[in-house]
Amino acid sequence: MADAGTRQPIGVIGAGYVGLVTAAGFAELGSEVWCVDIDAERIARLRAGEVPIHEPGLAELLARNRARLHFSTDVTGALEHASLLFVAVGTPSTYSGDADLSAVHAVVAAIPPASDRALVMKSTVPCGTGAALQRSFREQGKEALGYVSCPEFLREGSAVEDFLHPDRVVVGADYGWAGDAVVDLYAPLGAPIVRTDVASAEMVKLASNAFLATKISFINEIANVCEETGADVVEVARGMGLDERIGPKFLHAGIGYGGSCFPKDVNALKQLAGNSGYHFQLLTAVIEVNELQKRRVIAKLHKHLGELPGKRVALFGLAFKPHTDDMREASSLVLAARLNADGARVTAYDPVAEGQARQLVSGISFAPSALEAADGADAVVLVTEWPEFLELDWREVTQAMAGSLVVDGRNALDPAAVQAAGLVYEGIGRAPRATPDERIRGEASEAAR
Ligand code: NAD
Ligand code: UGA
Repeated sequence: MADAGTRQPIGVIGAGYVGLVTAAGFAELGSEVWCVDIDAERIARLRAGEVPIHEPGLAELLARNRARLHFSTDVTGALEHASLLFVAVGTPSTYSGDADLSAVHAVVAAIPPASDRALVMKSTVPCGTGAALQRSFREQGKEALGYVSCPEFLREGSAVEDFLHPDRVVVGADYGWAGDAVVDLYAPLGAPIVRTDVASAEMVKLASNAFLATKISFINEIANVCEETGADVVEVARGMGLDERIGPKFLHAGIGYGGSCFPKDVNALKQLAGNSGYHFQLLTAVIEVNELQKRRVIAKLHKHLGELPGKRVALFGLAFKPHTDDMREASSLVLAARLNADGARVTAYDPVAEGQARQLVSGISFAPSALEAADGADAVVLVTEWPEFLELDWREVTQAMAGSLVVDGRNALDPAAVQAAGLVYEGIGRAPRATPDERIRGEASEAAR
C-alpha cells in the first residue's frame, strides 16, 4: 500500500473513455496504476502501446507514464497493490430506460472484502445505487469494504484537459477513511472539492447532465421559434449568454445532443423519478425536443430539394461531436436512417469516426475526404463541426457539387463565405441574411429612393 511521501497506488476497473483517462491522469500525478478490463483485445493493444480510442492528448499521456501503468484482464494485481479501486465500467440504458448496472455488479462480485480497500464509483449510476451496494456488501459479509461516489464530469474530445483541470471534484462518502484518500489523490489539481454524502454526489452527476441537456433543448426550441419569426438564434444566444446568470456555454443550437451519456443519463433520471412515483415533466420534454431536432434537417432538405428519392446528400461528419470517434447515439445515425428511408443516396465523410460508423450505419457510402463526399451532391449537411470543415474552401465545394444547398446542422459555418461561393446557406434557427451582392443592390435602391 501507499508509502508515506509517495502517491497512492490505485486500481482502475474499466479501460474505456473514463477509465483510460483516469488511469493516465493519476499516473501523470505520480500514482502507480493497475488498470483492468474484461476486453482481452483492448488490454493487449494497450500493453503493446496502442490507444484504442481517439481522444486528444491521451496517447501522449499514456506514453509518458507507461512505466507506472499496468494493464491486465485480471483484477489480482489491482487488489494486491491498491486500496482505492476506481470503477469506470459502462452503465448503458436498459429497454425500460433505467441504467443497466450489471457491469457494476460484476465488479463488486469480484472484489473480496478488506478493511483497507474501497470502491470509488466513477461510473454514472442512479441515485441510491451506492446505498444499495453498501447494503449488499453487508449481506455478502463484505462490510469492511469502503465506498465513495466520485462522479466523472469529463467530456469526450477534451477528456485529458478536463481531468487535469476540472471545474470541481465531487467526493461523496458516508463513513470511513476512503473519502479523505480520494480527496488527497485529487488535491494536486487544485480544483474545488465538494465533500458530500453518497446519494447527493450521485445526484450532482445526474442533475448536471440533465441540466446541460435541458439548456441544449431549450436553445434548440428557441432556434425553431427564430425560424418562424425572423430572429437569428446565434445572435439571441450571444445576447443571452452575456448575462452572467445564464452564461454562454451550451447555448449552441443544432441537430440535437448525442453521445454515450446525455441521452442515457437524462432518460435514467426521468426513469429514476418515475420509479419513485414522480413524473419529471421537464425531462420528458427535453428528450422529445431532442428527438424531433434530429429530424428537422430532413424538412429543410425537403423544402429546398422537394422529394428525396434519388437525391444525393453528403454528410460532413458523423461522430456525435468533434475530436472523438465515438458514434454512440450520434445524431448522424438518425439522420442517415431517415435519409435512407426517404430514398436519398448518402455519402459521408468523418475524419476519424468512419470505422465505428461502418459498424452502426448501413446503406450509405463513405468518402475519404469532404470534397469527395460532396462530389455530385445535391446538398451538403454539416453534422459534426470538425475544424477541417470550418476551414474548407467553399468555392471548391461548389465546383464538386451538382446542387447548391448547404445545411449547417451546427451553426458552425460562416454563412457569408458559403453564400459568396454561390451556395444556398440554411442553418438552424438562423435568419436568412442577404448576400453581399443583394445588400449592395438593396443599398443602391434605397439610395435611389
Ligand atoms: P466505455 O464503454 O468506453 O468503457 C467501459 C469499459 O468497461 C469497457 O472497455 C468494458 O470492456 C469494460 N468493462 C465492462 N465490464 C467490466 C468488468 N466487469 N470488469 C472490467 N472491465 C469491464 O464507457 P465510458 O464511456 O468510459 O463510460 C464509463 C462510465 O462513465 C459510464 O457509466 C458513463 O456514463 C460514465 N461517464 C462517461 C463519460 C464519457 O465521456 N464517456 C463521462 C463521464 C461519465
Ligand atoms: C457530457 C458532459 O458535458 C460531461 O460533463 C459529462 O461528463 C459527459 O457528458 C458524460 O457524463 O458522459 P460529452 O457527451 O462528452 O460530455 O460531450 P458534450 O460536449 O457535453 O456534448 C454532448 C452533445 O451535446 C454533443 O452531441 C454536442 O454536439 C451537443 N451540444 C453541446 C449541443 O448540441 N449544443 C451545445 O451547446 C453543447
